[in-house]
Amino acid sequence: MEIQFLAESALQYVGDAVIVGVVRGAPLQGPAAEVNAALGGLIERCIASGEIRGRQSEVTILHRGGILLAERVAVVGLGEPGSDPCLAIRRAAGAAARALRDRGCRRLGIALHLQAPPSVRPDHCVRAIIEGVHIGLYRGDECKADGEAPGDIEVLAFLGGSDGADAGLLSAARAGGVSGEATNYARRLVNLPANIVTPSRLAREANDSAQAFGLEVEVLGSERVAELGMGAFAAVARGSDEPSCLILLRHHRQKEGPHIAFVGKGITFDSGGLSLKPAEKMELMKQDMAGGAAVLAAMRAVAQLDLELNVTGIIPATENLPSGHAFRPGDVVRAMNGKTIEIISTDAEGRLILADALAYACQLGATHIVDVATLTGACIIALGSVAAGVMGNDTALVEAVLDAGESAGERMWRLPLFPEYRSQLDSKVADLKNVGGRPAGAIIGGWFLREFVGETAWVHIDIAGTAWSEKEEPHQIEGGTGAGARTLIALAERMAGGEA
Ligand code: BES
Ligand code: MN
Ligand code: ZN
Repeated sequence: MEIQFLAESALQYVGDAVIVGVVRGAPLQGPAAEVNAALGGLIERCIASGEIRGRQSEVTILHRGGILLAERVAVVGLGEPGSDPCLAIRRAAGAAARALRDRGCRRLGIALHLQAPPSVRPDHCVRAIIEGVHIGLYRGDECKADGEAPGDIEVLAFLGGSDGADAGLLSAARAGGVSGEATNYARRLVNLPANIVTPSRLAREANDSAQAFGLEVEVLGSERVAELGMGAFAAVARGSDEPSCLILLRHHRQKEGPHIAFVGKGITFDSGGLSLKPAEKMELMKQDMAGGAAVLAAMRAVAQLDLELNVTGIIPATENLPSGHAFRPGDVVRAMNGKTIEIISTDAEGRLILADALAYACQLGATHIVDVATLTGACIIALGSVAAGVMGNDTALVEAVLDAGESAGERMWRLPLFPEYRSQLDSKVADLKNVGGRPAGAIIGGWFLREFVGETAWVHIDIAGTAWSEKEEPHQIEGGTGAGARTLIALAERMAGGEA
């Protein structure tokens, strides 16, 4: 998709369609008002008749009339005047691009950035639109034999600027393309089934990414994992015949300065193990490597953007299956940092593999750690599929992650790690147990992980609710969402810019 910056207005653009926005209950503004006038008040008449309501991401396609040069106008809803106009524009752009693509359009002029309030930086808005369009256009047809798909958008032109663009907008556009593609890469991995995305396949994806974008890669097999003393990870991996691995990706660009580790949960299928999950919806547990996919995607973007920063990606990858050699409830295992863990439920496996991966990140000298994991059903109960849960031991890093999430268009909400919660993990036989009862389940998951990072600044992002979209939405089809990827990328960009 070619990005253009043009001086032409929405009336002057010659292409398949122009995209303008309407805010629910507010008078038409800027390009929407101009187009309305050129069409003899058609948009206003549609609003009066209730055909256009301005609901978030509702797309209405009108055909040309009057003095407009593009064949179509897509009028897209921006919702109620809200607290996050950039998010509304991002989603509206994706919804409009998708609707137009599906009607055969190839060349789109967009005017939504001209409708952003002054509080939204133009470069942020351009980036959000490009990311939103990538996300909107993702098809999710990787397993379909008949690839009979309509063609792709060829040109996305930002209207009403000066011809060409300043360096800031151009670099925002480039970064938007990289992070939009990274998001879709993660979605593809999440959507592919567990018989295809095995731990070995994730390792191959890491190798291919390293080749393509210039990352260092290392894949530790199960013997090496055992030698390193990763007894918690090894315990989970035992039940599966599919070889497990710990994937490392490095992008190191500085002699000194911060070293950030991104750690992603890579359970390629979570059956629960001997603490077997109910059969209903178990097929969705192929998504349990979404954190790993986000880390892989973010590492690709970090390399593509060649950020001035030291970043290490760590993905412990295994299935969680019941079998004759599976670990059991009641087992006691020793993690890499020496702490012993009493297994209460083999279904609380994510925290076990992450315990060793986090301890390893510390051993590798990380100064900052951010993990991303589909960790707890309790996080879905707390925040639904709207927002990811964020916890950490370092307020500055927590705030940096929340800020990065906001700029990336990913909703995130902090949950507290108050010390009172910790006693839920007390064990009679070991240093801690892996399950702490039903209250505050997402926080207990976070507290468990905290035991393995020592004093290192660390943040945990629980994406159990946000990694998978259960229903088709105008801006995003059903399935994997790529949750976490853009936030990690935005965080790395901030840290490279010395902002975090
Ligand atoms: N992968 C699941 C959490 C999950 C649930 C992710 C639904 C996405 C959608 C995780 O491994 C798990 O099974 N967690 C248990 C923990 C419990 C045993 C403490 C849970 O949430 O029930
Ligand atoms: Mn589980
Ligand atoms: Zn899991």
